[in-house]
Formats: sequence, C-alpha cells, structure tokens
Amino acid sequence: MDNPKPPAQPTETILVVDDEPINVSVFGELLTPYYKVLVASSGERALHIAGNMPRPDLILLDVMMPGMDGYQVVTLLKANPDTRDIPVIFVTALNSDFEEERGLQAGAVDFVNKPCHMSTLLARIRTHLELKKARDWLKNQNVLLEAEVERRQQENQQVHLQLLQSEKLAAIGQLAAGVAHEINNPIGFVNSNLNTLSGYIRDIFSLLNGYDNLIANEPIAPETLEKIRALKIQKDLDYLRTDAPQLIAESLDGLARVRSIIQDLKNFSRVDSNNWELTDLHKSLDSTLNMVWNELKYHCTVHKEYGDIPAIYCLPSQLHQVFMNLLINAAQAIKGKGDITVRTGRLADEVWVEIADSGSGISPEHINRLFEPFFTTKPVGKGTGLGLSISQNIVEKHHGRIEVKSEIDKGTTFRICLPIEHSE
Ligand SMILES: Nc1ncnc2c1ncn2[C@@H]1O[C@H](COP(=O)(O)OP(=O)(O)OP(=O)(O)O)[C@@H](O)[C@H]1O
Ligand SMILES: [Mg+2]
Repeated sequence: MDNPKPPAQPTETILVVDDEPINVSVFGELLTPYYKVLVASSGERALHIAGNMPRPDLILLDVMMPGMDGYQVVTLLKANPDTRDIPVIFVTALNSDFEEERGLQAGAVDFVNKPCHMSTLLARIRTHLELKKARDWLKNQNVLLEAEVERRQQENQQVHLQLLQSEKLAAIGQLAAGVAHEINNPIGFVNSNLNTLSGYIRDIFSLLNGYDNLIANEPIAPETLEKIRALKIQKDLDYLRTDAPQLIAESLDGLARVRSIIQDLKNFSRVDSNNWELTDLHKSLDSTLNMVWNELKYHCTVHKEYGDIPAIYCLPSQLHQVFMNLLINAAQAIKGKGDITVRTGRLADEVWVEIADSGSGISPEHINRLFEPFFTTKPVGKGTGLGLSISQNIVEKHHGRIEVKSEIDKGTTFRICLPIEHSE
C-alpha cells in the first residue's frame, strides 16, 4: 500500500512519547513529512508539553517507560479538561489482549503494536485526527447553537415585554377614552344648567332691584321698611349681588378647564390612532403640556418658544406620546427647580420640535444607549426604559429623526425633525 502524498506544509502536530531515542527518531523521520512533530522522552515531559499551547492534535504514547508509564499518563491527560480531548494512540511492544483492553479503558483511542507498518500507522493517525476535527466542529456548532437559542430567548422576552407595554398603553388609552366619554355628558348638562342659572340669577336680582325701587317710591309703614332692611343685612344681599355672578363665572371657567383636559385625554388616547391627519403641532404640544402639567408644575418653569411652522401630516396621538415621554423625562431629570423650554421651527423641508431641560444631563457612556429598549437609569418601578425606544419607533414611522445633545449638570435637549411633505 502506498503512503499518502505529504502536504506542502504540515499543519497538525503529533506528540511522540517514547523513552527509547531510537524509536523517537524512527517515528520522527516517518511522520515529519506529514505532521509537525514534538517529542517527549518521559511521561512527565509529555504531560508538560500537552498542557501548554500550542497543544498537540494527537499523541503517540509508549506504554512501558521508566517512572510514569503510559497508562498513568493517559489517565492524567483525561483528568485534565485542557488535554482531555487530545486523542491518544498507544504504541507498544506489549502484545496481549489484556494490555490492549487496559489501554483503551484508560482512555486511549487506539492501540498499535511495535514494530508497525508505516501506512497502517498513518491511516490510523489520519482517522483519529479526522474524528477529532469532526468532534471539535460539533462542539463549536453546539456552542453557536446554544448562543443562538439564548439570543432568540432574549429577543422573545423583549418582544413579549414590548407587547405587554403597548397592551398596557392601549388599555390605559381605552380606559381614558371611556372615562372621558362618560364625563363629557354630565359636563355638558352642568355647563348648560350653569348658563341658564346665570340668567335666572340676573333675573332674580333685577326683580329685587325692581322691589327696591317700588319700596323707595311708595308709602310704606316704617316698621315694615325696617324689617326689610334688617333682612337684607342679615342675608348680606349686597355681597350676594356681586358674589353670585362671580361664583357662576368661576364655575364656568372651571368647567371649561375640565373640558379641555377631557379633550386632551381623548386626543391622547384616540383609538383610531393609526389615522394620518393634518395636524397643528403647537396644539398637540399644548395639550400634551396640559396632560403632564401635574408632573411639572411644582418644580419646572415651562417656556414656549414657538416658531412659524406649517401643519404636517402625522399620527397625532402617537406624536402626543413622544412629546409626553420627552417632557416627563425632562421633568424627572430636574432635581430641585429648573426650566423646560419647548421650541419649534422650520428648516428647509422639515419642522423641528425641541424639548430642552436644565436637568442633570446624560453621561457620555449612556448617551449611545438611550434608545435601547429597557435602558434605564431610574430605580425599579420608576422607569421601564421604553419611553425613548418607543418614541424613536414613532418618529421613524414618520420618516423623521430624533437627536440628542447633553451636558452633565447643564441639561439635555432632544430634537425631533419631521418632514413636511410626507406621503405615508
Ligand atoms: N432629559 C433627560 N435628561 C437626563 N437623562 C435622560 C433624559 N431623557 C432620558 N434620559 C436617560 O435615558 C434613560 C432612558 O429613557 P427612557 O425614557 O427610554 O426610559 P425611562 O425614562 O428610564 O423609563 P420610562 O420612560 O419607560 O418610564 C433614562 O433612564 C435616563 O437615564
Ligand atoms: Mg422615560
């Protein structure tokens, strides 16, 4: 049988372990054209070489050696996770089934008798090297597969949480829309009744004025006059005359405010949120500001610097969400008292909206992670880290961009740019 053709450049390494220099040199000579050959003249030396990089791809191991014998060497190789996978072929002059079985049990992959035929040895070496390669490949594939499974699991988890979040938002939206609808009716009739009542009060006071005139011009018993005067003082009629219309005017004012909050709620939670509409962004910003007023009013001064911008086609209730996320983030970044400035403007074929705060700012190592889903620096329960990632999705749906500039302890400015001409 002809030996295979040697490669141009050997790539695999064989460690030959034998205490007889003559054996080492015979093996060395035979193997060198095919493999890089390392040599160890004792078991201890073999363990040392196998334990270091670059590790041999296969070991030819003599059984009978002074000191540590081949069985001990293979047992120690198998016990070490770094060397466990190196295939070991016993090469020995001992020729008994018992020896062979003992060697295979200790962990050798094959058993070759000395003297051996070169082509048999080469064939066996090749087979075991290929088996090892296949095993290594499988192991790598396994690691890759496990990583892929892990990645998919995380992806699913994120999608699941995002779904939960958007379901939560939708549920809150529906609840808000329902409440707003229910409140609208009573507000309607209270408003109409107050207007009627205001007319009645006017009538009642003009009637009283009429009585006063009659009393002043008609002869009337002084004691009756005195009783009427005492009654007027007791009921503080002059005060009622000015206060009653004021009370009604204030109540009408209050109702108008409740109405606008309800309108904002309805805008915000519109179920038909997927309708593109020509929208005045200043109105959207105002109604979002009304909605979040409670979060801002105690510690933030809000400045509006609205520019001259055209109405744009957009999904208004979704932009409401973006403005709300940015305003709440701004308010939460301000410890103590501070300013929030809402600016708008037009640049070429885009409009922009800026929400700037004088808050804590964002550190450089966080700034690239802001739009990652679930990135938050807020304590558990305060932030889910979804606000900005949802906002970015919405802005991208509008073919726009969201940009951020920030300076630690000075503040942060988010800018949203939206195209004016946009066919969805
Ligand atoms: N105006 C800002 N000033 C300082 N840091 C900010 C500002 N806006 C966002 N951040 C930082 O970006 C992080 C992510 O913001 P994002 O709105 O996505 O999530 P969140 O506010 O933490 O939680 P959620 O909005 O889901 O309640 C915040 O935790 C915060 O660290
Ligand atoms: Mg947020």
